[in-house]
Amino acid sequence: MRLKEYLKNKIPENKLQYLPSSFDIIGQICIIELKPEIKKYSKLIGNSILKLNPNIKSVFKKSSAVKGKYRTHKLTYIVGINNKETIHKENKALFKLDVEKCYFSPRLSNERLRISRLIKKNESILVMFSGIGSYNFVILKNSSPKEVYCIEVNKTAHKYALENLKLNKINENKIKLYNGDVKKIMPKINKKFDRIIMPLPKESFFFLNLALKKIKKKGTIHLYTFIEEENEVEEKMKKYTKKFRILKITKCGVYSSRISRVCVDVKI
Ligand SMILES: C[S@@+](CC[C@H](N)C(=O)[O-])C[C@H]1O[C@@H](n2cnc3c(N)ncnc32)[C@H](O)[C@@H]1O
Repeated sequence: MRLKEYLKNKIPENKLQYLPSSFDIIGQICIIELKPEIKKYSKLIGNSILKLNPNIKSVFKKSSAVKGKYRTHKLTYIVGINNKETIHKENKALFKLDVEKCYFSPRLSNERLRISRLIKKNESILVMFSGIGSYNFVILKNSSPKEVYCIEVNKTAHKYALENLKLNKINENKIKLYNGDVKKIMPKINKKFDRIIMPLPKESFFFLNLALKKIKKKGTIHLYTFIEEENEVEEKMKKYTKKFRILKITKCGVYSSRISRVCVDVKI
């Protein structure tokens, strides 16, 4: 039963339109956005979500946008178990995380699977901005690369990535997890990669020069960015390199009514 239907006759008819039409479920945690018009019904809404979804144990409300270097958002407790740590299952991988201290979006699960299916046997891969390890573990669980190097600046996200390495029973020879800024770590990595993934849409172009130095000839970069029109991408790319071919632009989310999050697959 949908939330709106369940809450009919429990909250005023004219408030039903403000109920969230979707929410994020990460492990046993549900994260909702609540419009100010229905703020005073937050406990009732939270308890209804718990009742309708037996697997959910906690409900939190977004109380800030995704912000800062770590791309995290503030959450406010509504009902259930007051614990922001959970284990999420996706594409054969397990992710343990604190949903407030680390970035993670369950909405990108199809996109992570798409990338993992492009990987050919024995590729060397670099995931810049790797977070709790969402891309790297989906890749390692669904394809057969030679190795995956990962770099993440948020200490807490890195700590969870190390835990997730164990949780997913990954062969430690296949993965290297670095904690630090890509600008400091990448120049110290003395090798080039077949594929580089750049999941930091807000700033990925700022780091493109770094990636271009570490990609093999004919390698592929997956660059996430926000755009209004697809033709913006080619113009932006030209500022960094003349030798590139855009293979595909995949829409994988919305930022606002006009701006989309996309992944640009580029052959160098
Ligand atoms: C949008 S999140 C993506 C995380 C993860 N790849 C995922 O998709 O779940 C971007 C991540 O980049 C990290 N980050 C931001 N700037 C960084 C930098 N200069 N060097 C390394 N990591 C950085 C943030 O802490 C954050 O975890």
